[in-house]
Amino acid sequence: MPLLKATACACSNIAFIKYWGNRDDALRIPVNGSISMNLDRLYTRTTVTFDPNLNADSALVDGREMSGGGMTRISHHLDQVRRRAGVETRARIESVSNFPAGVGIASSASAFAALSLAAVKALDLRMSEAELSALARLGSGSASRSIPTGFVEWFAGDSHESSFAASIAPVDHWALVDVVALVSKAHKATGSTEGHHTAATSPLQAARVADAARRLDLCRKALLSRDFEAFAEVVEQDSDIMHAIMMTGKPALFYWQPATLTIMAEVRRLRASGLPLLYTIDAGPNVHCLCPADYADQVDQAVRALPGVVDTLRAGVGHGAWVES
Ligand code: PMV
Repeated sequence: MPLLKATACACSNIAFIKYWGNRDDALRIPVNGSISMNLDRLYTRTTVTFDPNLNADSALVDGREMSGGGMTRISHHLDQVRRRAGVETRARIESVSNFPAGVGIASSASAFAALSLAAVKALDLRMSEAELSALARLGSGSASRSIPTGFVEWFAGDSHESSFAASIAPVDHWALVDVVALVSKAHKATGSTEGHHTAATSPLQAARVADAARRLDLCRKALLSRDFEAFAEVVEQDSDIMHAIMMTGKPALFYWQPATLTIMAEVRRLRASGLPLLYTIDAGPNVHCLCPADYADQVDQAVRALPGVVDTLRAGVGHGAWVES
């Protein structure tokens, strides 16, 4: 058998309506749907080589040879692809992200989306975009949203087949920019897989989930009509609600640092002074500051000047996952 090899890339994404908590942990079927935007300049490039001479999977991720739990997660994901292709061949993975991993910039989203597409391509499996999105979801929930293009909604569903993401608006629908204010480049203490397990332990999670359809509707409408004011209100509220769940679960997860709050306050102050700007925060201390592209320089300068901000990253709206060779 020849070497079966393919390279694929996928952008990271930032959720406007967040995914936090699963109804099925093994299948990563979420308790609520979510909406996101792909981030064009923050992506992962992954090469998968299925080689009959290998007796185990191995992976080099950002120059580090993977072992333990991280390797097991990759290998389990490859098993899903192998099972669908009816092969047992082991693979070598080489993956590089052009942004720091584990700091709340959803590196697992781009990584598992790129891995899924490269593996499927290497084994010449035919899959629809929805099937590919559902496959990526098994590796990391948010990875399902890095498969389709532009602005994306992940429909929660109630089975493997019905839980997938699709594009709700193309890349050029709205020139938004994410200015990520980095407070820390250190790896976060509690990853999102563990975090999803604790979501149900917060007495507030039931209220969050019960209200999710309303927030999804408001967000989708504001996004499709490019109504920044309405968009900012629901996106910030959704992020704050998710962090309230994190802070009130067992164990309590506090991802914010003092500088996180400083940035949030500055975003609110700038918006009150007329700048179209909003914040949203994932499972880390860094703050995603979103604004129309015309304001990105001004926002970048303003957040860089704040105490505790060590750097910024910038990304516009990104495409869906693509095959490189
Ligand atoms: O895909 P995961 O398991 O890394 O979870 C992502 C969770 C958040 O980033 C906090 C929210 C989201 O919807 O991206």
